[in-house]
Amino acid sequence: MSEAIDTPEAVSATDRVAGHSTDLLAKFKPLINEREALLATGVRDPFSIVMEKVLSPTRAIIKGQETILLGTYNYMGMTFDPEVVAAGKKALDDFGSGTTGSRVLNGTYDPHRDCEEALKEFYGTKSAIVFSTGYQANLGVISTLAGKGDYIILDADSHASIYDGCWLGNAEIVRFRHNSVEDLDKRLGRLPREAGKLVVLEGVYSMFGDVAPLPEMVAVAKKHGAMILCDEAHGMGFFGPNGRGVYEEMGCEADIDFVVGTFSKSVGTVGGFCVSNHPDFEVLRLVCRPYVFTASLPPSVVATAATSIRKLMKAGDKRAHLWKNSKRLHQGLRDLGFNIATETAQSAIIAVVLPDQEHAVALWQALLEGGLYVNLARPPATPAGTYLLRCSLCAEHSDEQVGQILGIFEAAGKATGVI
Ligand SMILES: Cc1ncc(COP(=O)(O)O)c(C=O)c1O
Repeated sequence: MSEAIDTPEAVSATDRVAGHSTDLLAKFKPLINEREALLATGVRDPFSIVMEKVLSPTRAIIKGQETILLGTYNYMGMTFDPEVVAAGKKALDDFGSGTTGSRVLNGTYDPHRDCEEALKEFYGTKSAIVFSTGYQANLGVISTLAGKGDYIILDADSHASIYDGCWLGNAEIVRFRHNSVEDLDKRLGRLPREAGKLVVLEGVYSMFGDVAPLPEMVAVAKKHGAMILCDEAHGMGFFGPNGRGVYEEMGCEADIDFVVGTFSKSVGTVGGFCVSNHPDFEVLRLVCRPYVFTASLPPSVVATAATSIRKLMKAGDKRAHLWKNSKRLHQGLRDLGFNIATETAQSAIIAVVLPDQEHAVALWQALLEGGLYVNLARPPATPAGTYLLRCSLCAEHSDEQVGQILGIFEAAGKATGVI
């Protein structure tokens, strides 16, 4: 998610008035009109796909057709792992369908505690707190750590949940140019020495699939006395000898104060978390509003997460296969003539850059008709004017499937004039 939060074009006061009341939805008319014009050209709506049946982590039935999934963030392919599924079924039998309560009241069950233990084992940290989603983890942790009078220094291309966490906490927000160590240093240097400062980074940036130069950024943040939070949503499972993320791979474990992550990608379910070695970290359970004022995850969900996390600790072979797939797809798409957002494969996200929305939607639809699902990304999820078809690989994609994927891209690219 970039800084570019689209503000719909200004709509005059008279346009806004429907009857006697002000129509609060009128400000979205430009977006509604743009979408209707696009659908009138006969393309399928990229944002209303329904998976009729999911056959495996890499195959589903969409509109009656068997389709290869290449846009799921299911990096490690854990969603159909028999032990993961069995753990969820058992917890459903043992604890029921939901907790009907907050973690701080009636909503902490044995599986929630066990899931936090699994995270502590996985990350080797003293503390782990589970939230209901990764979005809420960022919202909660960032807004609680940095409040009025503090500064949050964040990459301009940060995810929406990071921006929203900043706004919820009322801290001063300072943005630096995407992945620019020099700009981070410059902006930190302008802040009052004594002020509380939190630098927020991501291991992998999900739109372009590029990684952050974490060692250099950490050195600069430390020089200016800032604490550091790293979001490893797209790095967990895949990077580092233990799969902890880019910060582990780049040797920054001792210097990152807080690691945020999600269960909705490599872990293969839903939920979010923050891990830390800070001696007072557990106080967040009492003061963090998005932790306190919402119901906890169903026990079946945290039981699947705990099982998956423990299996990811020993998933070196899957990591190796995922790297092989990512490199092959990146090189193969480049050889076919597609414009890729990064020079080399930096993560399991390979982003194909399209010149405009028309080409992006046409290629997206041709791929789907050819039996391949990828994610279409457009503003405000991407920087203004940027249209991407984002491919996210899975450790369960076979060599044969990667070959098929390249074949479908070649046919669709030629049919739509993209290559
Ligand atoms: C970098 C980053 N942080 C946080 C999240 C939120 O995760 P969740 O899906 O668990 O809310 C995402 C999800 O796309 C993400 O890409």
